[in-house]
Amino acid sequence: MGRDEMGEKRKLALRTRALHVGEKPDPATKSVEAPLILSTNFVTDPDSTGFSAVDMKENDPYVYARWSTPTVRGLEEKLASLEEGEDALCFASGMSAASGLLLGTLKSGDHLVLSDVCYAGVAELARDMLPGFGIQVTNVNFADLQAVAAAIRPNTRLLWAESPCNPILRLTDLTAVSEIAHRAGAKFAVDSTIATPVATQPLTLGADWIVHSLTKYLNGHGDALGGVVIGRRGPLAELRRHALIHFGGALSPFNAWLIRRGLHTLSLRMRAHQEGALKVASYLESHPAIKRVIYPGLPSHPQYELARRQMANFSGMLTFQVKGDAMAAARRIAQRAQLFNYAVSLGKQRSLIYYIPTGDILRSSFTLDAAAEASYRSYAGEGIFRTSIGLDDPDDLCNDLEQALRE
Ligand SMILES: Cc1ncc(COP(=O)(O)O)c(C=O)c1O
Repeated sequence: MGRDEMGEKRKLALRTRALHVGEKPDPATKSVEAPLILSTNFVTDPDSTGFSAVDMKENDPYVYARWSTPTVRGLEEKLASLEEGEDALCFASGMSAASGLLLGTLKSGDHLVLSDVCYAGVAELARDMLPGFGIQVTNVNFADLQAVAAAIRPNTRLLWAESPCNPILRLTDLTAVSEIAHRAGAKFAVDSTIATPVATQPLTLGADWIVHSLTKYLNGHGDALGGVVIGRRGPLAELRRHALIHFGGALSPFNAWLIRRGLHTLSLRMRAHQEGALKVASYLESHPAIKRVIYPGLPSHPQYELARRQMANFSGMLTFQVKGDAMAAARRIAQRAQLFNYAVSLGKQRSLIYYIPTGDILRSSFTLDAAAEASYRSYAGEGIFRTSIGLDDPDDLCNDLEQALRE
């Protein structure tokens, strides 16, 4: 806690917490930076630990690395603080966090309402795997609050949104959907990977769970997979016992150490990502070869008012559509771009670009009805160039696109 000019106690700012929470000088060596502890097991005593993780209690000593380790635990404390959560639980990847939350909290006979556009891995898991476990799934456009409310059934246990969603950057009004979920006695989970806690803190808007792929902005350097679920202490302890320890997707301490280091600069990086994305988005919007740009920070975004209300930072993701042959443009960009990597993923220090044809999405990933397809197409047209603006100088990025887009 710090003290402001009035002498009132106030909470430390997010960028300060990103540096300090979950870390203190190592008592044994006095090293200022947190040590990386890779050990898979820990010396215990017969009176304090049992053999089964099911008996594990909060603040028990470390036993085995799949249950918890000091390096991962420090990261969990930091992530919980950044999202205003009571606690956090790390996993080996974003997908491991998502599947852990879905399979750890839903059972046969339960109903899930899932955004009709979300990361393809989650969409495919819900479409291809969850029904086999007896879990019913309804896909719905989470920008349409009436459709969300209409999708609720007596057995609805969980609503799941992404805001902004990957890949079309459509937003969800998190406060409104929290209310719909809670009126129905259901929980609301938000994948906030693209927003990050610098932009939006879904728990403060009423959500029950937050999921992140740590692989993206939170690590920010493209060198470690990871995932996290953030929420209330009791339900997370339950999830640790079952979804983490028994499914086994534990985060490597090495990755946790890298992600912790990435988080130190999260606030500064997000400011630079936003500055770069706004500049590149504005440049593309006036480019004669570009049909449409979608970026939450542009007044032309269909939900700009919601973006301004809900996002303190517009993040670094934008999409654009070209006027001519999109595949030809994709080939030109892949061959000619010097600063952009033509590659999947997002949220790292280097800029990325990747063409996603709408036909591929409609064929392979989602079960969209006609209204949902129309909503998808209103954001994505025939196909989008998903673009993750890195930390490069934005003028250099505009020049790189200028030469790569030239016919
Ligand atoms: C929004 C979102 N959620 C979840 C995931 C899955 O994360 P991971 O690749 O770390 O498993 C991704 C990956 O691209 C994503 O973009």
